[in-house]
Amino acid sequence: MHIGIDQLEFYAPSTYLDLTELADARQVDPNKYLIGIGQSQQAVIPVTQDVVTMAANAASRVINDENRNKIAMVLFGTESGIDHSKSAAMYLKRLLQLPDNIRAIELKQACYGATAGVQFARDYVALHPEQQVLVVGSDIARYGLKTPGEVTQGGGAVAMTISAEPALLNLDDVSTFRSEDIMDFWRPLYRTEALVDGRYSENVYIDFFKAVWANYQSQTNRHIRDFEAFAFHLPFTKMGLKALRAVLPEASEQQQSQLMTNFEASRVYNRLVGNLYTGSLYLSLRSLFDQATLKPGQRIGLFSYGSGAEGEFYSGTISDKFDVEASKAWFDHYFANRTQVDVATYERLFKQQLPNHDVLLDTRQDDARFVLAGIKHDQRQYVDREA
Ligand code: CAA
Repeated sequence: MHIGIDQLEFYAPSTYLDLTELADARQVDPNKYLIGIGQSQQAVIPVTQDVVTMAANAASRVINDENRNKIAMVLFGTESGIDHSKSAAMYLKRLLQLPDNIRAIELKQACYGATAGVQFARDYVALHPEQQVLVVGSDIARYGLKTPGEVTQGGGAVAMTISAEPALLNLDDVSTFRSEDIMDFWRPLYRTEALVDGRYSENVYIDFFKAVWANYQSQTNRHIRDFEAFAFHLPFTKMGLKALRAVLPEASEQQQSQLMTNFEASRVYNRLVGNLYTGSLYLSLRSLFDQATLKPGQRIGLFSYGSGAEGEFYSGTISDKFDVEASKAWFDHYFANRTQVDVATYERLFKQQLPNHDVLLDTRQDDARFVLAGIKHDQRQYVDREA
C-alpha cells in the first residue's frame, strides 16, 4: 500500500509588495534582493487575515463532500498561532464543517510543524488506510520594518490531505531527523516580530541538511543519482540554492544540470510569495510539481527545517495518478489577479495589528472566502462568506 500526499493546495492574500520598490525605499541595490536573497515579491497580509482564515481558505479547496467524513485528524502546523491555549485546528475544524469525531490539534516547532503533521499522518493512515488526515501549515512571517529579515517576510497557508493511494506523492518509509536546542531564530511570547541570528541560522540550516542527508543515505543505501529533484524549506529561495550546492558535487555533470533546472522550478511560486514558515517547503513542492516535468515513479527528496532547531529529510515517488493541470491554472489565475501595494501602504498594513480589545474590522477590501471580522468578548469573529 502507498501512503502519501493526495492533495496540496495553497492560499495567500491577494496583496503583494514588489521587492525592487522595497530595495529603492531601503536604498539597497535591487539585485541584493532579487539575486542575493532570491526573492522578487512578497505577500502582504491584511489585518482581516490570520493563520486560521488563511488555513481555511486553503483547506476549503481540499475538503469536499466525498472526503469530509473520512478525515480523522486535523494537524495544524504554525508558529504564529492566535491563542496560547486553544488550538487553531479547532477553529478550522468548525469553519470547514468537519464532523466532531476527529482529533484537532496544533503542532509547533518553528517552520517544521507541518512536516511533523505529515509524518504523524502517514503513521496514522498506515494503521487506518480508509481514513485521511488534513495537514495544514499557516503562518505570517514578520521580522520588522527596516530589519535585515524584512526582505524575507511573507505569509500564507498550505493544506494537504494524507491518504492511502495518493494522487501526488507516495512517501518512502525512511525519514531521518535531527534536533538540537539552539538559538538561531525565536519569538518570545511578548513579541509580534521574530528575533533572528541571520547568518548563524543559515549555517545551521546547511549543517542540519548535510547531517540528515548523510544519515538518510546510510540508512537507505540510496544516493543522489536516485533523485530527480529536491524540495527545500525556502525562507528565501537563495537558502535552498545554498543547500543544493552543498550536495551537487555528489552528482554527475549531467545530473547537476537536471537538479538545477528542477530547483528553478521549485522556487517559482516562493519567489513571488515569500516565507510562509511552516508552509514554505510545501509551496516549493507544489511549485516543483507544477513547473517541472515529472513522471510517475521519479523520486523527490524533501528537506524540512525549523529553527531552534529540527531538521528532517524524507522522500517520495511521483504517483501514477499525478496530474497538475488544475493546480497550474489556479496559480496562473492567482498571480495574474493580485494587487500590488506601494511601500507606504505595505508599511501601514504591517503596523495595523489587531488590538487587545474588542474591535469590528472593515473586511470590504478583503476578497477571501474566510475573513476575520473582528474581536468580540475576546473571541475572534470568523466569517465564511459562502455560508
Ligand atoms: N547583487 C547580488 N547579490 C548581492 C548584492 C548585489 N548587489 N548585494 C549583496 N548580495 C548578496 C550577498 O553576497 C549575500 O549572498 P550570500 O548569502 O550568498 O553570501 C546575500 O546577498 C545576502 O546578503 P547579506 O548576507 O549581506 O544580507 P543581510 O545581512 O542583509 O541578511 C539574511 C540576509 C541573513 C538572510 C537576513 O535576511 C535574515 O536574517 N533573514 C531571516 C533569517 C532566515 O531566513 N534564515 C534562514 C535559515 S532559518 C530558517 O530557515 C527558518 C525560517 O524560516 C526563519
